[in-house]
Parts: sequence; structure tokens; C-alpha cells
Amino acid sequence: MQILSDPRQVQAAMLDRRARGQVVGFVPTMGFLHRGHASLMDLARPRCDHLVVSIYVNPLQFGPGEDLDRYPRDPEGDAALCRAHGVDLLFMPPDLYEAGHATTVHVAGLTEGLCGRSRPTHFDGVTTVVARLFGLVQPALAVFGEKDWQQLAVVRRMVRDLALPVEILGGPLVRDEDGVALSSRNAYLSPDERARARSLVGALRGMQAAVAGGERDVDALRAQALAHLEADRVDYLEVVDPDSLAPLQRVDGPARALVAAFVGRTRLIDNLALLPG
Ligand code: PAF
Repeated sequence: MQILSDPRQVQAAMLDRRARGQVVGFVPTMGFLHRGHASLMDLARPRCDHLVVSIYVNPLQFGPGEDLDRYPRDPEGDAALCRAHGVDLLFMPPDLYEAGHATTVHVAGLTEGLCGRSRPTHFDGVTTVVARLFGLVQPALAVFGEKDWQQLAVVRRMVRDLALPVEILGGPLVRDEDGVALSSRNAYLSPDERARARSLVGALRGMQAAVAGGERDVDALRAQALAHLEADRVDYLEVVDPDSLAPLQRVDGPARALVAAFVGRTRLIDNLALLPG
């Protein structure tokens, strides 16, 4: 596995691969990799000739007072995991942007609700860094986790609207044995917080069971789930159309429940299909 830190070197190497007709697969990450990231690499691996993973904690997608300064890091562990999952190139830039970077990629609409409501600059940071990474890596396919359901929808829309020649694949969310969705931010949780973090998936599974039992009214589903949550603050708990992310009043077709909540100081997100799409 090659490890590169210079964005221009990566772009030159990838131009060369493309010119030789190779299919480049890409998994962008912020590091502190876990089984969830590994599953994204495993999804990309058989579909490409050359698998690239990037690790970059992107300042543009953190708001004031968020965890940019304490975001967990483990470059050696990350490199070992990438090696074990057949990664060809690990791209770890200390900085990614040119001096005087002045461009923002903004996807309207989809970025306004859910996480966008409490993190108003977050998705602009994500789309801007992903667009720049796509320009450097020039992947034919890129994999994003379904754990960040809204991010996946936003990236798909950006790729469609800007006609970027990259196929976007969603990788299923991976859970720990206790049901908690894998996240690098789980490292922040104390044992008590970890126990309470389980209530997020518990609430979502409760909604899923209620739908399976015939409940269709979203207010009733939400009320039941909110009573179950042991979070310190609920940012949102919503039932939306899986593609448009439009809020639903009733579950009569494909629907996704999404939750964001603070357990202690840690903001966790999770989501689950209520009726599969
Ligand atoms: O999902 C993430 O880890 C990040 O938002 C991403 C896509 C790597 C962009 O920084």
C-alpha cells in the first residue's frame, strides 16, 4: 500500500491510472477507522482496479464549538486497517486546500432540514471537500456510509447536478453487538453514556416494530420513540421519504426514521428503514 500526502502527487498518479484505463474506487473518510469504514472498502474493492482511501479531518464541515480540535486520530491503526482491506493508496494530506481557497459547493433544499438545521454550514463543508477530493482522486466510483443518510443524499444530488462522472454507492450501516451504530465519535462516550446511546437504536427499532404492527401515524410513532430515548437532548427525530428527505405524516410507502441526539456532550446520529424502499 502506498501512502501519499501531497494532493498534486495524488492527482498526477490518478490521471495516469485513468489514462491506462484503470477503474479507481474511492472511500473518503476522516480517519479513526472502524468496521463500518472497512465495510465500505470491502464494497468498493471488487468493483475497482485501484482502491483509494483518504483520511482528512475537514475543518470546513465543523461549526464553531464542535469537536474539530478533539476529533479522534489513529494514523497507524488506520493504515493497518486499510492494508488489511486491500487498499492500494492511502491519501493522508496534512492540508487539502490551496492558499486562498474561495469556492463553496452548496446543495440547496436537501441540506436545510435534519442535521442542516442545527449544523447550518456542515453540508457546504462536506460537498466542498468531496468535490475537491473527487477532482484529485478522479474516482469512477465512490462509497459513502448509509449511517450518514442525509450526507449520502446530498452527495448524490451534487454528483447528479454537476454531472460528475462518478458512481456513488451507499454502504449499509454497521452496528456494534449492543446495536449502537459504529461511529468514530463513540470513542467520546463514558460507560454510562454508551449504555444510554443504545436507546437511539432502541427507539428506531420500536418505530419499525410499530409500523410492522400497523401503526401509520408519524406523530404516534414519534411520541412512542421520544419516550424511549435516554438522550440528554434530542436534536431531531423524524420520519422522511428516503430519497427526497421530505418529512412524512404517514408511513404508507418507503420511509426512513432518522435521529440525532446528544448523549453527554456527544452528538450521535442513527437511522433505520421503517418500510423498506
Ligand atoms: O463522512 C465523513 O467521514 C465525511 O463527512 C467525509 C465524507 C469524509 C467528508 O469529509
